[in-house]
Amino acid sequence: MKKEISNVAVIGAGDMGHGIAQAAILGGLTVYLYDVNKESIDRGVNRINQSLEKLRKKEKISEEELNEARSNLHPTLDFKEALSSASFVFEAVPEILDLKQKLFKQMGEVAPKTAILASNTSNMSITKIAEHVQNKDRVVGVHFFNPVILMELVEVIRGSETSDETIQTAYDLCLKMNKTPVRVEKDSPGFIVNRVNAPVSVFIEAIADAGIAEPEEIDALIKSHGKPMGHFELMDYVGLDIVYDSCQYNKEVLHPNYAPSRLLTEKVDKGDLGKKTGKGFYDWS
Ligand code: CAA
Repeated sequence: MKKEISNVAVIGAGDMGHGIAQAAILGGLTVYLYDVNKESIDRGVNRINQSLEKLRKKEKISEEELNEARSNLHPTLDFKEALSSASFVFEAVPEILDLKQKLFKQMGEVAPKTAILASNTSNMSITKIAEHVQNKDRVVGVHFFNPVILMELVEVIRGSETSDETIQTAYDLCLKMNKTPVRVEKDSPGFIVNRVNAPVSVFIEAIADAGIAEPEEIDALIKSHGKPMGHFELMDYVGLDIVYDSCQYNKEVLHPNYAPSRLLTEKVDKGDLGKKTGKGFYDWS
């Protein structure tokens, strides 16, 4: 059995949340996009509109599809309004376990009892995130990649109590959003993609930390192997604070070797967080 989903809520209108909302409205879903302040909501909505225009100009969507997508989007600052009719809720807030646990408790209380609650965490335990939710069988990981609108892959992660129905519904919803979902049957740090990336990152960043080569030179080599972005460029793109938090988490739950690298730590300490602040390993201004 699986549920038919038509109404979703997205909690958090940042880099990931606005992209998830955009993919959902393009998939024909009614979307309530919630954030805690008006600036964040306005910024998220502007990014969605700009991206829709871009897709329209490239003839990837028609004028009709653009208008329909826009009419499916309902930005709101009212948590209750966002959740009251949702049958599926996407959480896309910062990677702080305590914050996610509190939010999931609230989502569980405010959303309909049958609504599925999904976290976009990139490496945290779904089981832990679900800790204070009443019916934990409806909590699932649905991990998108940045930029959501262009990246097809999505990891659908089973927590220790996630039901088969929840997994199947999340999987089918990703298909509806024109994504390519993969099932991750065991809740473990970094799931598949970031579990693979974590050790690779340690080796790449050790080369820069040791002064053997500059980030730009290492990136040039990576790009010459056909990757669209270099390692340091991609970290800048994702946000160095996000990468840093993810390394800290991996250090705690996997192995001390996953600690943030020296150069990454220096950038974060200086507030150079990559593209979003205009400066990271590269100058984005
Ligand atoms: N909306 C709509 N279209 C967009 C867009 C947007 N927001 N951004 C770019 N595009 C379009 C461009 O107009 C362009 O279209 P055409 O090919 O028709 O001209 C196309 O997408 C490609 O864009 P660009 O030419 O600007 O740049 P690109 O070729 O380098 O592609 C990219 C951009 C898809 C981001 C590519 O660089 C890429 O794949 N980078 C790697 C991304 C990646 O690995 N992400 C995962 C990060 S990890 C993560 O997210 C999760 C985590 O766990 C922390």
